[in-house]
Amino acid sequence: MEHVLKNIGVLGSGRVATVLANKIASAGHTVTIGTRDPARAAAKWSGAHVAFRDHAETARRAAIVVNATPGDTSVERLGALREELRGKIVIDVSNATLRGEDGLPGSLLYPGSSVAERLQGALPETAVVKTLNTMLFTVMADPTSLRVPPTAFLSGNDENAKAVVVGLLGDLGWPADWIEDLGDVATARGPEAVALLVPSVLRRRGLAPFALALAR
Ligand SMILES: NC(=O)c1ccc[n+]([C@@H]2O[C@H](COP(=O)([O-])OP(=O)(O)OC[C@H]3O[C@@H](n4cnc5c(N)ncnc54)[C@H](OP(=O)(O)O)[C@@H]3O)[C@@H](O)[C@H]2O)c1
Repeated sequence: MEHVLKNIGVLGSGRVATVLANKIASAGHTVTIGTRDPARAAAKWSGAHVAFRDHAETARRAAIVVNATPGDTSVERLGALREELRGKIVIDVSNATLRGEDGLPGSLLYPGSSVAERLQGALPETAVVKTLNTMLFTVMADPTSLRVPPTAFLSGNDENAKAVVVGLLGDLGWPADWIEDLGDVATARGPEAVALLVPSVLRRRGLAPFALALAR
């Protein structure tokens, strides 16, 4: 597919947003970070050139918006941007969990559903694509750093949107055959349930980079 540079919005300015925004901007896309405090986020930023705006303006100017904000409040946050996100692609990398006593994910917020499905329900004119939530943030933009090839799972109803996301994953360093298209947005339930595995891995291995891989 022809490589088309796009305006990409990244909601959030934390660990995930930082690695994704840096790599996407380095690939030549125009990147805006959507943050509650643009001045504060700009002051602490180091890396590739990006702009900083509030969430609504970020969504308005972007063709593709990455949700890198807390999953447990994402549906309300992005649902409020329905007009700004109309006709666009939302890439959801969030995990929606309830915290256990140690502050780590303890259970799923949407058992029997998923944050991706809830987002798609709240944003009917937007193509929601779930990906990249099954790994530590460092791996999202550096997949070849692991000894075993990781998998980027993909879930979404819109085939064209998923093709665009595959292109963007390529910019993040993902070879096409490491990307596993699971099907429609309801298939995000599987990858989202991996959030239950994460606290056990973190307790045993700390923040060493890891990702889920589909062994074949
Ligand atoms: N960390 C990982 O390895 C990892 C892996 C897979 C998936 N995820 C998912 O990716 C998402 C981001 O994770 P992260 O580790 O980057 O988290 P983080 O470092 O805590 O960053 C989240 C960012 O979201 C914004 N935010 C926080 N609370 C908010 C609120 N109440 N309303 C609006 N914006 C808020 C903040 O940006 P501003 O202060 O600039 O607004 C914050 O920097 C989460 O859904 C997480 O489950 C994380």
